[in-house]
Amino acid sequence: MYSDAIKSYQLKENALILAIESSCDETAASIVRGGREILSNEIMSSCSEHVKFGGVVPEIASRAHTTAVARVTDAALNAAGLKLGDIDAIAVTYGAGLLGALLVGVSYAKTLAYALDIPLVPVSHIRGHIAACYLNNPNLEPPFISLLASGGHTAIIYVKSYTEFEILGQTLDDAVGEAFDKVARVLGLEYPGGPNIERLAQNGEPTVVLPKMFKGEKTFNLSYSGLKTAVINYMHNNEQQGKEVNKADVACSFQSAALDVLVARVVEATKLKGVKTVTAGGGVVANGYLRNRLAEACSERRIKLYLPQKRLCTDNAAMIGAEGYIQYKNGNFAGLDLNAKASVEL
Ligand code: KG4
Ligand code: ZN
Repeated sequence: MYSDAIKSYQLKENALILAIESSCDETAASIVRGGREILSNEIMSSCSEHVKFGGVVPEIASRAHTTAVARVTDAALNAAGLKLGDIDAIAVTYGAGLLGALLVGVSYAKTLAYALDIPLVPVSHIRGHIAACYLNNPNLEPPFISLLASGGHTAIIYVKSYTEFEILGQTLDDAVGEAFDKVARVLGLEYPGGPNIERLAQNGEPTVVLPKMFKGEKTFNLSYSGLKTAVINYMHNNEQQGKEVNKADVACSFQSAALDVLVARVVEATKLKGVKTVTAGGGVVANGYLRNRLAEACSERRIKLYLPQKRLCTDNAAMIGAEGYIQYKNGNFAGLDLNAKASVEL
């Protein structure tokens, strides 16, 4: 494979792809058949080691990956009842993410591909989040509008085909997940902030008035830094005046301000492109409030909504297998010189 054999490699229908993901604090391995069917999906996380620092410490994450990557891969093979020799290709996240963390997965994937003499498929983490919607949904096909909402990216995307994308709008500053994490910190909640804000918001009312994003402007773009700063200022002003703050109300108000705008953008995007299908991906899509609001908005307009299961929204390797299969079918194979990249274009 790593010589001339790559040119004569015969692509397989329903190929079995072993996917590896190590871009942040999750070390994950999954076996996906034909890009849609999950045979196994294993995740080990160093999250608990980062909590006391209030965010992911790259060096700690990289070290954790080195001890976890082989174990998680073995676990994925065992759970699927397969051996390495059964695998048709190795897919791996090469970016975007923490360089040291990515390098662990990339090096391990290269070694496996070389030893087994099978294709090495480079996968973008961002495209992986978008492709998560294909998992367990054999009938879903582009075109559709995809909402990408993670800790690193926030965008409204027109997915024209499996490999053609048009970004209709994106955040001009912080990603929505990043805003959740920063607001969580000022509310005294632990990392990762998103799920903790969601939990707290359940006991609150959206009574705190927060600024509207791009009020009155027609745009698909987003901006979270103003909203985040407004919450931080609200907390500090009340603290200085010795006033008691209802944190659940703050969490609830922030959550709706941050997420309602995404739902509105998605609806506008379906009108612009005349499509009747919506999908979403990224850690923030695990948020129950967002899922409900999307479901309501889509059902009112007879739009078909495909949301990945919550565990396929946050970082996982099955989504890398889904996107890996699309790249595999296009013969997009990497050589052993594949390198990790901290940022990648969509
Ligand atoms: O996709 P992801 O796992 O990693 C990146 O690629 O960034 O997303 C992580 C982000 C974090 O900012 C986390 O706080 C947020 O997703 N998140 C949530 C929820 N679960 C995770 N945000 C809001 N509500 C949630 N339930
Ligand atoms: Zn992610």
